[in-house]
Amino acid sequence: MTGGLFRTKAVKTAAEHAPEHRLAATLSWPHLVALGIGAIVGTGILTLIGVGAGKAGPAVILSFVIAGAICAAAALAYAEMATMMPASGSAYTYSYAVLGELIAWVVGWSLILEYSLVVSAVAVGWSGYAAPLLQSWAGVPTELMSGPHAGGIVNLPAIFIIAVVAALLSLGTKESATLNAGLVVVKIVALAVFVAVALPSLNAANFEPFMPFGFVKTMGADGVERGVMAAAAIIFFAFYGFDAISTAAEETKNPGRDLSIGIVGSMVACIAIYMLVAVAAVGAAPFASFANSPEPLALILRELGRPGFATFLAVSAIIALPTVLLGFLFGQSRIFFTIARDGMLPIGLAKVSPRGSPVRITLFTAAIVSVIAGLLPIDEIAALANAGTLLAFAAVALCMMVLRRRAPDAPRVFRAPAWWLVGGIAVAGCAYLFFSLPAQTQLYFLIWNVLGIVIYFAYARPKVSGALASKSVDPEVFE
Ligand code: ALA
Repeated sequence: MTGGLFRTKAVKTAAEHAPEHRLAATLSWPHLVALGIGAIVGTGILTLIGVGAGKAGPAVILSFVIAGAICAAAALAYAEMATMMPASGSAYTYSYAVLGELIAWVVGWSLILEYSLVVSAVAVGWSGYAAPLLQSWAGVPTELMSGPHAGGIVNLPAIFIIAVVAALLSLGTKESATLNAGLVVVKIVALAVFVAVALPSLNAANFEPFMPFGFVKTMGADGVERGVMAAAAIIFFAFYGFDAISTAAEETKNPGRDLSIGIVGSMVACIAIYMLVAVAAVGAAPFASFANSPEPLALILRELGRPGFATFLAVSAIIALPTVLLGFLFGQSRIFFTIARDGMLPIGLAKVSPRGSPVRITLFTAAIVSVIAGLLPIDEIAALANAGTLLAFAAVALCMMVLRRRAPDAPRVFRAPAWWLVGGIAVAGCAYLFFSLPAQTQLYFLIWNVLGIVIYFAYARPKVSGALASKSVDPEVFE
């Protein structure tokens, strides 16, 4: 009865796929580091730092440390797996090869949630910085710049920016990656300016009391869950994105070297940047003043009496935040693409354009995430994106640990140090963060997965089994 549920699938190299299902290898490590930083530094540090401060007070700094440490452990596991299996599909592909089809499906289904909701959340974050300028410079009515939860009708700027990025991606991979590298510089300069302006205004009184809402997630009288861990579960959003690099594995010229430099390098750089920004933000202004603001860093600069720098930061965010959208919309289309190519989603989704990029799936994804971004609040979208990501990260760390036991001598271009410790921190840390998410998010995540499992049994599994029985896929790649 369990026949097939735990079948595993060998990973094909890019060259083994039929030409119409093959992605073009055009990227090298500088592109990947830029793709990584481009996908990591975004709405998390620019906007959710305010949500985190509302949940943890000044101890949001501690939330950054905890979420960063867990992500760093997961990044090491990712680097090991991505270089062992340099194939499109990321955590889904590794799980299919190591943990079996059912778990791979659940992971793939979670990745769809992660990638699509990150695009939605970042588009809403972008709108948070763009709206004040659009209103004062172009007189755009506020009801057209936020969803019904904030008293508006629809968040049009969020929809607009998704459309722009989707159009760009459809043009081709190399062009997008090069433009991305330029925009990453803009984003780093903006955060450096923030730190340079805010850090000298550090006021020790702003760190007191350091932990007003305690450490573990606790429900407040107003029905909001707070505490350092509740904030860490949201702030986690700020750190991921390096996984988007692994979805570009098939398009990388020298995957072994390029992927490990890309993943570990971008993660280390971002942890350093975030710690500086978090300390500068909390030290420069009382946390309550910027908690839950749609544009907290610009607000802090205005409170410091530096409106020129605030506008500079907002304009930089508007120009550069789309790099995150680019990274995740790119990753999302590759994940859909890989699952479809494996026969578990309609194969029409796995067609690439003559230029080697999957246009159809990019546009399909963009349409869905636009609706979500247009109508829902950022913290709820981000929390659900985090739930999907946490599951995927835990699965990758588990794959890494299982393979170390099962195939200790398999060639590894990159080896995670102290693998059992790194793997253990990643798995246990992701579990703890998941339970620190709002209860409502956990419920939505459960519903999403129940839906996924129904689709697996009703559609995906029979299709793969049928293809295997009729020998329309190569049975040799399955065990
Ligand atoms: N880490 C990305 C961001 O913060 C998803 O926007």
